Amino acid sequence: MCGIVCYVGRRQAKPILLDGLKQLEYRGYDSAGLAVADGQSVAYHRALGKIVELERKIGDIEINGTTGIAHTRWATHGEPSERNAHPHRDMDENVYVIHNGIIENFHILKRKLEKKGVRFRSETDTEVLAHLIAQNFEEDLEEAVRRTMGQVEGTFGLAVIHRKVPGRIVVARRGSPLILGLSKDGHFAASDVSAMVRHTNEVVHLQDNELATLTVEDFSISTAQAKHIERSIETVEWRAEDAELNGFPHFMLKEIFEQPETVENAMRGRLEPGEGVPKLGGIVPVWESLKECRHIVIVACGTSYYAGCVGMYVFEKLTEVDVEVELASEFRYRKLNFPANTFIIALSQSGETADTLAAIREAKRKGARLLGIVNVVGSSIARETEAGVYNHAGPEIGVASTKIFTSQLTILTLLALLLGRHQNLSLTEGVEAIRALQELPGQIRSVLAQANHIEAIAQKYYSANNWLFLGRKFNYPIAMEGALKLKEVSYIHAEGYAAGEMKHGPIALINPEMPTVALAPLDDMYEKMVSNIQEIKSRRGPVIAIATEGDERIKEMVDDVIEIPATLDYLNPILAVIPCQLLAYYCASFLNRDIDKPRNLAKSVTVE
Ligand code: AGP
Ligand code: GLU
Repeated sequence: MCGIVCYVGRRQAKPILLDGLKQLEYRGYDSAGLAVADGQSVAYHRALGKIVELERKIGDIEINGTTGIAHTRWATHGEPSERNAHPHRDMDENVYVIHNGIIENFHILKRKLEKKGVRFRSETDTEVLAHLIAQNFEEDLEEAVRRTMGQVEGTFGLAVIHRKVPGRIVVARRGSPLILGLSKDGHFAASDVSAMVRHTNEVVHLQDNELATLTVEDFSISTAQAKHIERSIETVEWRAEDAELNGFPHFMLKEIFEQPETVENAMRGRLEPGEGVPKLGGIVPVWESLKECRHIVIVACGTSYYAGCVGMYVFEKLTEVDVEVELASEFRYRKLNFPANTFIIALSQSGETADTLAAIREAKRKGARLLGIVNVVGSSIARETEAGVYNHAGPEIGVASTKIFTSQLTILTLLALLLGRHQNLSLTEGVEAIRALQELPGQIRSVLAQANHIEAIAQKYYSANNWLFLGRKFNYPIAMEGALKLKEVSYIHAEGYAAGEMKHGPIALINPEMPTVALAPLDDMYEKMVSNIQEIKSRRGPVIAIATEGDERIKEMVDDVIEIPATLDYLNPILAVIPCQLLAYYCASFLNRDIDKPRNLAKSVTVE
């Protein structure tokens, strides 16, 4: 769940580790720590709270050493405290270990170790790793870690240094991501690329049940069975400035404003305007089966799930394919019966979400084919699906997902259009679709140009304790996503509802203190949305309408209007979500929330 960054090389480790931890802050955490070895001794510091607390502690301390490991903790076993912060040591203070994940058999291991006289210093599950590695260590640190892997159950991404083994870091993973970074100054390992993108974009993805040993000159990978592995080096597209605010107050706002480019990137090189057909190289390996497929299940969590919900309507509009959308956390526990040639589409920004990963593994066991729409190249879901499409959206640092959502919608539309054009969709419809898609970046810019207007609307309503979001058909999932955005970053309670459900209950909530965001673009649901708005206004509920440019009628009916350009009905969600993102952002800003790192949230939910 949280963050690991390691370095061994020619440069001093301390600044590299602290900077790497800051790049991982967006993942959410409660404490941090590091250990730096200089070949004789190990400097070891931890702090409760933000990384700035750790910096405050060690800022004036001279910490020499070119080998180090550092960690941000998201507590699972043992309260957030300095004592429970990582790294954890063995009794002789030779082994220092940091760990992401959960050691599920740690109670048994702890009791065994205590019977052997080990005295624990923390309540964490992680500490058993330090003692086991120390006990398993004879001369070879990698072997000691390999033996320990055989003793523990559960998930880990871990890194270890040993006081008597200078210039060497051993890392290992099972169910929690770890990536190696290669540079002329030395070698890195981290939970995700953003921690090392300032130093290198040459990476190697460690896979489950693999270990790696890093030194200043080299790195080697082996399996839990001690089999040597040669793994190709990948070049990530991300640049250092992607992990910079570049003048924005928050990554969330920066990423909202990146959407013209990220939607463009989702389409780049993937359109054949004249033919009205997209081209998705990533699905070529499965195309012969996919084009015959008549049953698709989209699985995802959170915002990615709402993207899948929009996708279901888009596939229904453009193809003959029967599409279901399932919450990955529910899907994985269901009795699954798939028609022949069923494809699962896993939507995931991080490519590491535990529930989504478990869902595709279960689906594969039951015979389904697997596709992924993922942002992080080489991530677990990207590797465990047969084929797929990358978002190419760059790192999404803000915990609240924004640019990835519109990128996912764009790619789902391309996929539906590709299938539809091999089914009943005409050339004219295909050309019209691609023309409308190509207009989106400019149209997004025109919505973003209303940011001040949207901020003023947020200022009117940010003190409300409850909001309601309503939409129909393509825009029903946008109501859900808009409510999630507001909840996540402002902590205001909000509900997203199918507008047709109003009379079945939620209308009882309407009151002058509760604003309703009504998604009412000019589409075939417009008149029904107008009725919903009238029902709310007649009960004195304030209404903020997201409406099509030039709709004078709705302006007469509601309290505030945010206009979006006219486009095809199934593309409206890509435009309509942006006002929702900005409303959430500005409400959170007025409430002085920790917008990029909302309380209790993590960017990548790699535990269940
Ligand atoms: C969305 O704003 C949240 N950060 C969260 O719901 C997120 O969408 C969910 O955890 C899925 O993450 P993934 O796309 O990386 O799988
Ligand atoms: N389970 C470990 C702990 O509670 C690691 C948590 C994490 O992934 O940060 O310390």
